[in-house]
Amino acid sequence: MFLKRVKLLREGNNLSHTYPYSIPAIKQLDELELTNPVTFFVGENGSGKSTLMEAIADICGFNTAGGGRNNTYDLEASEAALSDHIRLSWLPKVTNGFFLRAESFYHFASHIDDIGSIQAYGGRSLHHQSHGEAFLSLFQNRFGGKAIYLLDEPEAALSPQRQLTFLRIIHDLEKSGEVQFIIATHSPILLGYPEAEIFHFSEDGIRSIDYEETEHYQITRGFLENREGYLKHLFQ
Ligand SMILES: Nc1ncnc2c1ncn2[C@@H]1O[C@H](COP(=O)(O)OP(=O)(O)OP(=O)(O)O)[C@@H](O)[C@H]1O
Ligand SMILES: [Mg+2]
Repeated sequence: MFLKRVKLLREGNNLSHTYPYSIPAIKQLDELELTNPVTFFVGENGSGKSTLMEAIADICGFNTAGGGRNNTYDLEASEAALSDHIRLSWLPKVTNGFFLRAESFYHFASHIDDIGSIQAYGGRSLHHQSHGEAFLSLFQNRFGGKAIYLLDEPEAALSPQRQLTFLRIIHDLEKSGEVQFIIATHSPILLGYPEAEIFHFSEDGIRSIDYEETEHYQITRGFLENREGYLKHLFQ
């Protein structure tokens, strides 16, 4: 693994009440130590996961609308508001990799068609594949080598079965010892990846938690074990 530390530089920014320092998890961030090749970001909607991930992607030189170093397509690259104030520590530094945002995948697929690199994605235009097929095609054809992959809710396109396939892809790549993943997710399946570190973003900051501590695990489990009870309570 390559990216060891994410540090937020304090230059009075923490006093600001404007985005992104208005987000509690960002406001309280000092530094995150990454000790595992697979790191997850979890937390409520709006807790700051994408904000931090976009900043990391921006510093890596990846297009913050989603893509790698060579994907400088002209989409409104989303503003990586934090990146001027974050320092990344690498050992060693890698420049290869990818930033994936589920929301802008469609634009990315158009770009791939435009530049004619369909061969790199399984020989079929990503637009001629279903959302989930296109995602997996990307994972299967584009991932590999020394690289860091930043993925924002990759599960959005994937059926439960394909999420398992995706876990297998992560596993196979991790075995090579040459890849690092940082994945923001709401999927209790993806979060179940063994030995991964899970950073929970909340009002109290960012802290490492166990799989079983995540609401994703607890709520999904509770719901599946007692669906009638859950719904009765919810609707009363
Ligand atoms: N450009 C922006 N300007 C102002 N506020 C923003 C901007 N982008 C995001 N926010 C706010 O910052 C907060 C964190 O957003 P962010 O997208 O990082 O959340 P998230 O943890 O990724 O959530 P989700 O799980 O829904 O994807 C939210 O309250 C959001 O409304
Ligand atoms: Mg997000």
